[in-house]
Amino acid sequence: MGIVVLGTGSCLPKRVMTNVDLESIVDTNDEWIRSRTGIESRHIGGKDEQTFKLAAKASLKALESAGVAADEIGLIVVGTISSHMQMPSTACFVQNEIGANKAFAYDLNAACSGFLYGLDLAHKYILADHGMKILVIGAETLSSRLDWNDRNTCILFGDGAGAVVLGYSEDDRGIVGTNLLSDGSLWELLHMHGPESANPELKVEGYSGAFIRMEGREVFKHAVRAMEDSVTTLLAREGLTIDDVSLVIPHQANIRILNKLIDRLKVSQDKVFINVSKCGNTSAASIPIALDDANRQGLIAKDDLILFCSFGGGFTWGAALIKW
Ligand code: ACO
Repeated sequence: MGIVVLGTGSCLPKRVMTNVDLESIVDTNDEWIRSRTGIESRHIGGKDEQTFKLAAKASLKALESAGVAADEIGLIVVGTISSHMQMPSTACFVQNEIGANKAFAYDLNAACSGFLYGLDLAHKYILADHGMKILVIGAETLSSRLDWNDRNTCILFGDGAGAVVLGYSEDDRGIVGTNLLSDGSLWELLHMHGPESANPELKVEGYSGAFIRMEGREVFKHAVRAMEDSVTTLLAREGLTIDDVSLVIPHQANIRILNKLIDRLKVSQDKVFINVSKCGNTSAASIPIALDDANRQGLIAKDDLILFCSFGGGFTWGAALIKW
């Protein structure tokens, strides 16, 4: 028996912003962005493409591919750091938008690791209640949380959403294991303030707006090491090696992080799914968007062993293995 992915879906905003478009916003150029990050373009949300709208569209596609009706869903979990409102949660907006009227719903903040944390959570809920079907979503409109004058960050991120429907299966497929970790002591290296406090006593010292701030080089080093460690620990725990894995779907941060990870894991490049060139870094949405992309391209077959790994603000990081 196992907790299986019944269907996948994703949604990207219509507008595509190329590196050349960015040249007219900040002092940068296509060559610098491509060579440092592998990103060529990203999607940017427009009218009616708030985080919950993208999440709802991705969810409807996932439900359709699963052959599951919205009112069969018992729980909706959305990994996001860019809700259009602080309250209610994006998950509640999604629940209303898709008509999942029997579900309870909440958001989860684990930055770029939000989807993997959500997957782990759903796994445990379904183990406790085999009848439950859960929508796990990663959705972001990070374009609304970027300082468009800061060339260190605004070139990296994009908007989009991905979703999976999870349910119980009697056969031996499904989530094999997860390995999640956090380190709050390093929060300053990658963070985003919220709205400024209305209580003067609680104002944050050094408040610099509700934008992503990052020490790029430090984040780079931690990301590679942390993802490598979480993957090798998980594989060893399950008595597996990287050669047993059919496809790696990593968080799409940037190509240099991914290439370093590929070297360290000694995995062949053609076993690693990468779509960062067209999407940029979509934080919690990046793994489910990539998963849906790979799935719809027919790159995943029954019984394949799929490995996910992620790293993000917190720091949060981890890995997960699914037998498809
Ligand atoms: N265009 C042109 N020049 C730029 C740009 C830009 N967009 N951004 C920075 N520069 C300049 C810098 O000002 C600096 O100039 P200087 O030498 O005159 O001071 C020079 O380029 C080199 O800057 P560095 O920051 O040292 O460049 P680096 O090689 O470290 O690359 C990058 C920067 C791409 C951000 C890299 O550090 C990185 O990939 N970090 C990982 C960050 C990441 O992916 N974060 C996402 C969130 S976490 C996650 O998802 C894993």
